[in-house]
Amino acid sequence: MSAASLILRMKAVKKSFREPTGLLRVLDEVNLDLRASEIALLQGPSGSGKTTLLQIAGCLLRADAGQVELAGQEINSAPDAQRTAARQRRLGFAFQHFHLIDALTARDNVALGLRFKRQPHDAKRVNDAIELLGIAAKADRFPRDLSGGEKQRVALARALVGKPSLLLADEPTSQLDSHSAETVAVLIRKLAREFGCAVLIATHDARLHHVADRICNLKEGRIHE
Ligand SMILES: Nc1ncnc2c1ncn2[C@@H]1O[C@H](COP(=O)(O)OP(=O)(O)OP(=O)(O)O)[C@@H](O)[C@H]1O
Ligand SMILES: [Mg+2]
Repeated sequence: MSAASLILRMKAVKKSFREPTGLLRVLDEVNLDLRASEIALLQGPSGSGKTTLLQIAGCLLRADAGQVELAGQEINSAPDAQRTAARQRRLGFAFQHFHLIDALTARDNVALGLRFKRQPHDAKRVNDAIELLGIAAKADRFPRDLSGGEKQRVALARALVGKPSLLLADEPTSQLDSHSAETVAVLIRKLAREFGCAVLIATHDARLHHVADRICNLKEGRIHE
């Protein structure tokens, strides 16, 4: 595949946290390339640094050393404003606990995805995302009246309405029963294929294996494929 389709490149990324007892070295030497439409699972024991790695890829945290490129642009050493712009333009996020706004309907939660990206409201795009995630019948409900699987589909629609080139998902299925987890897994694959979105999923969930193109194991601060 051409270099142009490289969405995420992490090169020799290091990250430590200061602890009362000394320095905790979490990422020692992380190298990872992710291309358009590719789905990679990031696995590893609790505390191995999966969330830390997603935060670095998502411009929420800076690595201590190494390079992080989003669509060819080095962002780890870029000024904050440039990192924020890259995050808004290129990234979508999905989390274990959905992070929906309780006071907004499913539809308005999805519409927030455009505001996060500083894009104008676009009812058609919001509807298209809702249709694609199969939640049209529930679009006027509030989160409290949705199942876990439905909430995650709303959260994914919100992440994807702004057409990110990289979707970062932290344990997106851990709160879901098997049926909902399978629905979400199949939808993530469909979204990757249809939008050319690269997807990096931190998970312990073996139910996601079958939609992954790659499995990356994070161990002692390095990735083993
Ligand atoms: N802001 C922080 N300050 C200090 N230590 C941190 C910080 N963030 C994470 N850590 C530590 O870094 C290590 C890696 O944490 P991280 O959350 O990335 O692991 P994880 O692989 O996502 O774990 P889990 O599977 O439990 O979600 C842990 O030991 C954690 O306590
Ligand atoms: Mg984590």
